[in-house]
Amino acid sequence: MRLDKLLLINFKNIHQAELTLSEGFNCFVGDNGAGKTNILDAVYYLSMSKSAFTMTDGQSISHGEEFFVVEGSYQTDSERQELVNCSFSRRAGKVLKRNGKEYDRIADHVGAFPVVIISPQDGELITDAADERRKYLNGFLSQLDKTYLKTIMRYNAVLAERNRYLKSASAEEMLLIYDQQLSDLGGKVYEARRAIVERMQPLVAEYYSVLSGDREQVDISYRSELSEAPLSELLLRARQRDVVNQFTTSGVHRDDVVFRIGGYPLRKYGSQGQQKSFLIALKLAQFRLMSEQGGERPILLLDDLFDKLDIGRVEKLLSLVSGEEFGQIIITDCNRERLESTLSSANKCYKLFEVEGGDIKL
Ligand SMILES: Nc1ncnc2c1ncn2[C@@H]1O[C@H](COP(=O)(O)OP(=O)(O)O)[C@@H](O)[C@H]1O
Ligand SMILES: [Mg+2]
Repeated sequence: MRLDKLLLINFKNIHQAELTLSEGFNCFVGDNGAGKTNILDAVYYLSMSKSAFTMTDGQSISHGEEFFVVEGSYQTDSERQELVNCSFSRRAGKVLKRNGKEYDRIADHVGAFPVVIISPQDGELITDAADERRKYLNGFLSQLDKTYLKTIMRYNAVLAERNRYLKSASAEEMLLIYDQQLSDLGGKVYEARRAIVERMQPLVAEYYSVLSGDREQVDISYRSELSEAPLSELLLRARQRDVVNQFTTSGVHRDDVVFRIGGYPLRKYGSQGQQKSFLIALKLAQFRLMSEQGGERPILLLDDLFDKLDIGRVEKLLSLVSGEEFGQIIITDCNRERLESTLSSANKCYKLFEVEGGDIKL
């Protein structure tokens, strides 16, 4: 997948921009606060129909404006042209169109324009609570498997209903209906997550070793109560507790993904450099699985390339992603000279843009 043209109107600090991108590396350089990450986020929006960073769509409208528009002209790996247009206005909400036709359900779009982002924010996957790791898996699986997003949305809806019900009542027959639905949906979510983490494990280990040159072994595993018993049974066992607590204490909304280095928790025992290499390895593994399964190479977004990485690791990363199995790459960095000299050794064409106060020029 490659993005040939990108059009932005009132997107965060970028009032208007029209860019023609290279099929290889595209680099955006400029000072802090210039708008580099905002450009990556606009590309992410076109694929996921939401920001990678901000909570609400409204936060992406330029201050004082009423709407934003992001539009991208794509070419698929099989040379098909596609146009995606995503707009959000305070009055009319979000509209997402593919080749001029509006989607009935935005969820139908996710996965058709695969994207993988590597950014300093990934650190939260290690430092934050399990919720952050579940969100990551959900986003990844939603792009990989059309039914997953619908299943997890449905699961969350039933869970919210069951929790609302528990606040005021506890009739056996009602809870049985909720439990039946939750078990069906939760079982599917569990199976999808378990399978993907298992497929990621060897790839993460492989990329980590290439990137870091470390002898330390890293591993990733999925942790869920559902590995011990089916959710229907867990819900039944937890019934009394749920009624007392007035919320659902068992299910895939409690699951986690565990990261380890040398057999110990990465968060406690990994150095900053090891953690960063691990996160990049994780994202490259995601890229590889998405491209194998979907048959389309995702667009790779590398935000703040040099963040917490020494030049040697950056060079390794760039030489990795210069390979044929990677396609178009969009990079941001604050130091033009550093980026240019590093890229000259990578073997892929590139285009460099300067960003300043929301203006972008070649
Ligand atoms: N909705 C918005 N309207 C106008 N400016 C915004 C909006 N959201 C963020 N910004 C501005 O965008 C700038 C940050 O841009 P960013 O892309 O993160 O910079 P960087 O080049 O460092 O990656 C900040 O100056 C911030 O105030
Ligand atoms: Mg930035």
